[in-house]
Amino acid sequence: MVSSYLFVNFKTYSEATGKKAVRLAKILAFFSRKGVEIIPVVQAVDLASVSSAVSLKIFGQHADPVSFGSNTGAVLPEALKSAGAYGTILNHAENKRPNEFIEKAVRRCRDAGLKVMLCAESIQRAKELARFAPDFIAVEPPELIGGDISVSTARPELISDSVEAIHSVDKKTIVITGAGIKNSGDVRKALELGTKGVFVASGIVKAESQKNAVNELMKGFHQPNPLRGFR
Ligand code: G3P
Repeated sequence: MVSSYLFVNFKTYSEATGKKAVRLAKILAFFSRKGVEIIPVVQAVDLASVSSAVSLKIFGQHADPVSFGSNTGAVLPEALKSAGAYGTILNHAENKRPNEFIEKAVRRCRDAGLKVMLCAESIQRAKELARFAPDFIAVEPPELIGGDISVSTARPELISDSVEAIHSVDKKTIVITGAGIKNSGDVRKALELGTKGVFVASGIVKAESQKNAVNELMKGFHQPNPLRGFR
């Protein structure tokens, strides 16, 4: 049974694009353990190659509320699914959309059989988005994204308050937190404060050693995992 989640956002970092996306996904797969679902969140163009290389559940980074037809340039939910996506995120702080867009996109993703994680920049926004009953909501203060101070350290109250706020609207939505997460202490604190997992990007993707970074973060889930054996 999955009890917690490590979402890893590949963004458009060079260290996580193309062949390097596949390499990073293989590292994540190596550290995958019972009880902790590791979910790579990859660019749409890398979905097919990543999903054929590892057996992790993979998410896309965005989907548009369109159906088959004349929608040049759009990210079609069915295309994500057939490229191997298990789900997608929507409304990341770097790709924000209005609620009306999100409501339609959640519906289209559901039609296509995709899980959805909505990102929210504040507790107020998280409450608004919870009305759409997504599978996950990730609350990430934008000012801490990509920085060295984690949300667990800088705004611990935001984590516990967001869990309460989201569950006051929809108890089934799984709450994730992110921004600046770098070590096992950050993960442990986020879990202690009531979330089911973390959303990490630079702490893994930009790390000097991606393997060491994943190993360190996994310790926060109480799943120590020596590097021995990884090539
Ligand atoms: O999507 C997760 C992301 O926004 C957090 O980024 O670099 O602060 O881990 P980072």
